[in-house]
Formats: sequence, structure tokens, C-alpha cells
Amino acid sequence: MNDKECQLEKAFNKPPSDSVSTVLPTALGRLHIRGPVKPEDLEKYRLAEGLCCFRPPARQHQSLVDLARQDDGLVFTATVADFIISYVTFQKPDYPWWQKRCFPQLLELGSIETDPSWRKMGISTALMEGVFDNPDFTYFEDFIVIAVQFIQSWDLKNTGMSPWTYRQFMLDFFKKFDFVTWETVDPEIREHPCNILLARVGGKTGLKSVKHFTNCCLGTN
Ligand SMILES: CC(C)(COP(=O)(O)OP(=O)(O)OC[C@H]1O[C@@H](n2cnc3c(N)ncnc32)[C@H](O)[C@@H]1OP(=O)(O)O)[C@@H](O)C(=O)NCCC(=O)NCCS
Repeated sequence: MNDKECQLEKAFNKPPSDSVSTVLPTALGRLHIRGPVKPEDLEKYRLAEGLCCFRPPARQHQSLVDLARQDDGLVFTATVADFIISYVTFQKPDYPWWQKRCFPQLLELGSIETDPSWRKMGISTALMEGVFDNPDFTYFEDFIVIAVQFIQSWDLKNTGMSPWTYRQFMLDFFKKFDFVTWETVDPEIREHPCNILLARVGGKTGLKSVKHFTNCCLGTN
């Protein structure tokens, strides 16, 4: 696929804003799980200080707003008062290997993060359930969603886990939402033995897309 075709493939229909909207009671208060969140709504929130795994919070906040503005960017959040304390993002694949091989049914889960002081309370699980395990929101059933796991994006410092333990944590976490490991020859993923390509094949994607995806993983198209 050439660059122009790839750009065209980027134009896809986003689900309506706030197709997902639920309340999650926690020991620390009631959280609002919602998305995709409009960029102007994201702008009104503040990002919890601990959301700094990928960038410092101010820059990460701006990058969530920028992503939500893109034609292919989707941001789902868990909020309390005017703070975002957890989020998950989606877009067309952003890595060189997958950019070259993008196809209409392919999406990437870019990042998922919960503020450290709110972790292990089921918040990411609730976000992922709202997105992937929700009879009222079946948008992702039409897509193969990849979640590329690179060791450098893991929070080894705060969790104190070894890379191999964290790898297993990620496998267990994503497995609950039907993400499984796919073999790939993508050199960036093969750079470290802990890196993993995870993918979730939506129930409505069809065999042709799965075959195409397999060939992409193996570099044969
Ligand atoms: C991964 C992450 C998003 C999980 O968020 P969370 O809101 O704490 O997740 P949940 O509370 O829903 O927990 C999900 C499961 O993971 C387990 N878990 C969460 N943190 C854990 C930890 N530090 N050690 C062991 N298990 C842990 C929970 O016990 C739960 O397991 P269960 O379903 O069997 O009960 C969070 O740890 C995080 O922000 N990490 C840094 C960023 C990152 O690594 N993102 C993933 C790659 S993009």
C-alpha cells in the first residue's frame, strides 16, 4: 500500500462521542468512564499528576487532546471531578512496520495508563470492559486491534516488577479482553525478547482480514 492509499485508509468513521458512558463506584469515589471524548471536553479536564509513563502530564494531556482531534484518534477516560485518572487511546497504527501495512480493519491501542495512586482498583479493567465487552458498544468488533508491548513503555519503576513479570502482567491483563500474542518478524518488536505483539480480532472482521493480518505480521505483504 502506498502512502496516499495509507492516508486514505486513515479516514474512517469514529463512533459518536460518549458512546460509552458509565459510572464506576470505587473506595475513593464515583468515577465516570466515558468516550470517545471530544477534544474540547478533554481540554477542560486536568490530567492527574501521576499519569507520566509516556510523557510528563502536561504534554501527555496535550497529546490526548491532539489525538482526539485526529480523524483516527479515539480517547476513552476515567474521570473524577475534573481530573482524568485513567485513559486508553486508539488510532491507526503509528509504528513504521504497521504504517506500511495498514489496512481498513486495523487499529492500534496506543496506550493505557492509570494514575499510580488509583491502580489495582479495577479502573483499567472497567475502561477496557466499556470498550471491548459492552453489548451497547460493539464498534471494535469490526477491527483487528493491535497492542504493541515494548519494554520501554512499561512502568517497571513504580511497580518494582522485573521485565519478565511485567510481560506476564500484560499478557494476563490483555487476555481478559481477548488479546492474544501474534508471532511477527517486525524488527522493532524482535529487538527485545520481552516485547510482544498482542492483537484482538473483532468478531465481525472476517477471515480475509485475519489472513491479511497474518501476512502483515510475517512480512509477506
Ligand atoms: C497496566 C495498568 C494500566 C493497569 O491499570 P489498573 O487500573 O491498575 O488495572 P486494574 O486495577 O483494572 O487491574 C487489572 C488487573 O491487573 C492486576 N494488577 C494491576 N496492577 C498490578 C500490579 N502492580 N501487580 C500485579 N497485578 C496488578 C490487578 O490485580 C487486576 O488483576 P485481576 O483482573 O486478576 O484482578 C497500570 O498498571 C498502568 O498504568 N501501568 C503503566 C502503563 C502501562 O504499563 N501500560 C500498559 C502498556 S501500554
